Amino acid sequence: MHLAGKRILLGITGGIAAYKCPELIRLLKKAGAQVHVVMTESATHFVTPMTLQAVSANRVALELFDPAAELSMSHIELAKWADLVLIAPATANIIAKLAHGIADDLLSTLCLATSAPIAIAPAMNQQMYRAPATAHNLAILASRGTLIWGPDSGVQACGDVGAGRMVEPEALTAEIHNFFASSNELTGMTITVTAGPTVEALDPVRYISNYSSGKMGFAIANAAAKLGAKVTLISGPVHLDTPNNVERINVESALEMYEVALKYATQSTIFISTAAVADYRAVNIAPHKIKKEHGSDELQLTLVKNPDIVATVSNLESKRPFVVGFAAETDNVKDYALKKLISKNLDLICANDVSDKQIGFNADQNALTLYWRSIEEANGNKECSLPLANKQELANKLIIEIIKRYKASKNEQKN
Ligand code: PMT
Repeated sequence: MHLAGKRILLGITGGIAAYKCPELIRLLKKAGAQVHVVMTESATHFVTPMTLQAVSANRVALELFDPAAELSMSHIELAKWADLVLIAPATANIIAKLAHGIADDLLSTLCLATSAPIAIAPAMNQQMYRAPATAHNLAILASRGTLIWGPDSGVQACGDVGAGRMVEPEALTAEIHNFFASSNELTGMTITVTAGPTVEALDPVRYISNYSSGKMGFAIANAAAKLGAKVTLISGPVHLDTPNNVERINVESALEMYEVALKYATQSTIFISTAAVADYRAVNIAPHKIKKEHGSDELQLTLVKNPDIVATVSNLESKRPFVVGFAAETDNVKDYALKKLISKNLDLICANDVSDKQIGFNADQNALTLYWRSIEEANGNKECSLPLANKQELANKLIIEIIKRYKASKNEQKN
């Protein structure tokens, strides 16, 4: 009974996979959960409300303006009742509505009205799943912290083959179990994340910087906060909303980031350095706009190295946190990442192959290979790959891996 007492609001939308929902409800109830079902009008073409009412043992909600349903449990009460809202199957249509805040039926309205976490199990034709609009809508949802489970790949009801099948009921039940098991996993832990670019002024109107958008670091901060950690996010200038329950400190230059990072690092359990820190800054910031020089096609700038923030944190003699760095590389990715792991004295490094324009700087997606050192491992380094996914999904997985490595390093220190 690993879901004992958990209250799950199951939203069913109009896809062929809706026929699997009675089995999903049966498994959830067997695990001890209470289930209320909300169906869209389209869903009723694939499975009957009567069947779902029988298996859930609760009245199935169908319409927004149903006086009888509002009397027994209003849609606002339903939204407040849930510990988790799961939409399975989730069509391209409901995904688009959620992404854009459209509330034109009971289910989409409930999703806006709930403060419970929302999970979706996408299910649709493979071409619809691959359509740029769907990919964009999924990225929006992921960036808000919506849990996206699946889809699976395989032969589809229409005969096509590809990604778009709803995750099977057993696997969805396992996801729900993992979600509840891990939602307080990081309580008591303090995590500091650096994110975004730094900007290094040249004069009052010009600067040196890079294409980092902050998306990766913000997604990591969001993932850690969702698991109950106390999170501080030190961010260079970016255009992103602060994730819920995250303390954000805005900085501009590498020197500013350095100062703030050192202050927070010594109070942190884990320090994650996602920021693309400018390696150099101008020796002198011109007090006035630099003017074009007549008679010369060249301008010489004298730059000086910025302090290495993550290496300084890694080399702290007392109150050193567990330190995670990133390496964005265009070639020899593994070699360069391993060199940084050692030279910066990191516990873990996340390597980004940014020669692929689909991932890394300013992209919605990323893929990472993690490398670490372990005294248990005679040959030195170990590694694990996190395949291509949108940055929030990837961050959710990454934070679990970081915690695993952190716990393993604590055990190694004890032995
Ligand atoms: O922000 P996004 O658009 O989502 O993109 C994410 C990202 C590509 C920026 C991110 O995933 C990433 O790879 N960050 C590291 C970028 C980088 O170029 O790192 P680096 O190889 O210059 O530095 C290695 C490590 O040292 C990094 O952890 C970096 O934060 C840290 N560093 C570097 C220089 C410096 N002066 N201080 C540092 O702390």
